[in-house]
Amino acid sequence: MANHIWVLSLIALSCIMSIASEPSPLQDFCIADPTSSTQVNGLVCLDPKLAQANQFSLSGLHIAGNTSNRFGSSITPATVGQIAGLNTLGLSMVRIDYAPSGIIPPHTHPRASEILTVLEGALEVGFVTSNPMNQLISKILQKGDVFVFPVGLVHFQRNVGHGSAVSISALNSQNPGVITVSNAVFGSNPSMSADILTKAFQVDKSVVDYLQTIF
Ligand SMILES: *[C@@H]1O[C@H](CO)[C@@H](O)[C@H](O)[C@H]1NC(C)=O
Repeated sequence: MANHIWVLSLIALSCIMSIASEPSPLQDFCIADPTSSTQVNGLVCLDPKLAQANQFSLSGLHIAGNTSNRFGSSITPATVGQIAGLNTLGLSMVRIDYAPSGIIPPHTHPRASEILTVLEGALEVGFVTSNPMNQLISKILQKGDVFVFPVGLVHFQRNVGHGSAVSISALNSQNPGVITVSNAVFGSNPSMSADILTKAFQVDKSVVDYLQTIF
């Protein structure tokens, strides 16, 4: 009986260890079935005999995004939402365009680390470590430079060059997720109580009200 429990614990432990990141595929691939309403961790697989190249493919990452918005940036994703064949593979990509002085505001990816390279222009990039250090690790990147944002940490990018800038990132999730700090804190739906936000940020309620209208 004791042996039995020991073996079960080992099995449980090895399962936990193998899903510290995204679970490893149990078959060659699992093309997401966009029509299935079944809820699983990931997406339901199509019949692999029906696989087609276009389920592993996407076009248009050479096309600049429209950066005419308040942040001066545009994100073109290549995640499982665009490439069904990425389902279960723990991998995705994103193109980002930046107008002069454009930013990607402080945000985090709950499910992925990110490795970014600059294709055009120059970017200031950085991330902040956990409490209590909250150390800012930051650098100016030129064309061809690479930078890593560790999973879960708040990070940002800013175009510090003279013209527009372009970067490509790879992320180790089929669906990295994005939590933009300002949207999460001041733009939640329904709104977080102003009592919490005035204390948390040590500002007047008028400041909180203003930020809640913006985000
Ligand atoms: C870019 O976006 C702005 C704001 O949404 C819009 O007015 C403009 O027409 C867009 N430009 C192009 C080339 O699509």
